[in-house]
Amino acid sequence: MALKLSVIGTGYLGATHAACMASMGFEVIGFDTEQNKIDFLSKGKVPFYEPDLEELLSKQIASGKLTFTNNIKDLADCDVHFICVGTPQVKGGIAADLTFVNSALESIAEFVKAGALVVGKSTVPVGTAARLRSRLIELNPKADLAWNPEFLREGFAVEDTLKPNRLVVGVANDRAEEILKEVYAKNLAENTPWVRADLPTSELVKVAANSFLATKISFINAMAEVCEAAGGDVTVLAKAIGYDPRIGSRFLQAGIGFGGGCLPKDIRAFMARAEELGAKQAVKFLEEIDSINLRARQRIIELVRNDLSNDLKGKKVAILGAAFKPDSDDVRDSPALDIAAQIQAAGAIVTVHDPKAIINAQKRFPALNFAEDINTTLKDSNIVLHLTEWKIYRQIDPKTVKTLVKDAIMIDGRNALDRELWLKAGWKFRALGRSQVG
Ligand code: UDX
Repeated sequence: MALKLSVIGTGYLGATHAACMASMGFEVIGFDTEQNKIDFLSKGKVPFYEPDLEELLSKQIASGKLTFTNNIKDLADCDVHFICVGTPQVKGGIAADLTFVNSALESIAEFVKAGALVVGKSTVPVGTAARLRSRLIELNPKADLAWNPEFLREGFAVEDTLKPNRLVVGVANDRAEEILKEVYAKNLAENTPWVRADLPTSELVKVAANSFLATKISFINAMAEVCEAAGGDVTVLAKAIGYDPRIGSRFLQAGIGFGGGCLPKDIRAFMARAEELGAKQAVKFLEEIDSINLRARQRIIELVRNDLSNDLKGKKVAILGAAFKPDSDDVRDSPALDIAAQIQAAGAIVTVHDPKAIINAQKRFPALNFAEDINTTLKDSNIVLHLTEWKIYRQIDPKTVKTLVKDAIMIDGRNALDRELWLKAGWKFRALGRSQVG
């Protein structure tokens, strides 16, 4: 008999995991406490933007393999329960808020069937899995708990889930590993690397990976600061060091830095947890990683000020991009929106464009102006900021849009535009980590 799976929490991670598991042939039931999410998903609609997900999800709903419920008891006959709820930053601190993970476990512990395996996928502070496992066994001695961190990137969530570059399972015994091998049999058949770990190591793998990625981005942004001081060009520097396979060229895009629902809060939660464990010094460098990252936002605002004679009052600022990265409508800790809000607070008239994230951005920053099309955004502006590197922005013809703006000044916050093209069209071109030309 094929395993029956449940997925608790249907955000970016859970909805994707549920649809992908169903597409691998399992019967899957997704649970969420938010009724509107369940209503959406049950109709085969995805309540956020993620390429390819809606198509996959609606197909699985139509096939009958995937269903959604807001009645937790509907999960009773599942063999494996994936916990995919969020672990946001606590209000007023840097630690992770475990309310949703704790309540997910409590809500199913007593009724899961004998032999059921609860599998945590959420990013949690090390030690959480062992604590939850003890609690589960206390409430239900015949159940077990494993940890299976998720590494999916927004914008590539489906691809990363169907074809992960590795599978990491934190288990307390062979049986839990065997069950997970059954769940991921298709990936194993495709030779996906399989790493068995103990519970704490599996939790640490996730935060270590995200800390490394954050460090790589802040490293190149620190080099951008030095390049600015020394008259160098960080894009050339990144290209040159990236050819060394020990360094690698990915995640060396200098700009306004990292945001989103993962990297910023994960490195902070890691610092908080390390301190509790008496290992504060070991990850103290992450404080600097965080500072470099946040400094990039201030540095770009400085560039804007320099070009607007240090006075933003009444200046029209056009902003291209609101999402924390392209191919996503996620605006959680978006550097682009943070910059937009700060510029507006300094007195500028800011208009923001984004192909997918306007609704979410509006909810977070209702006082900002938003425009549905690029031309309206650019019209009569004194300066243009490119803050999320959507493909459509690279397709803008600088010659054509020059006639729309008041002053042709482009600030490329992502080092993703073709500088020569913009200069040739008569624009002033500014970017972090490069000489300011034009
Ligand atoms: C990240 C991890 O990559 C993923 O493995 C984990 O599961 C969740 O967190 P995600 O938040 O989707 O994924 O985005 P990611 O692609 O890592 O980008 C994070 C941020 O870094 C974005 O704001 C992006 O714009 C920025 N970034 C990325 C840079 O500034 N420069 C780069 O070179 C790469």
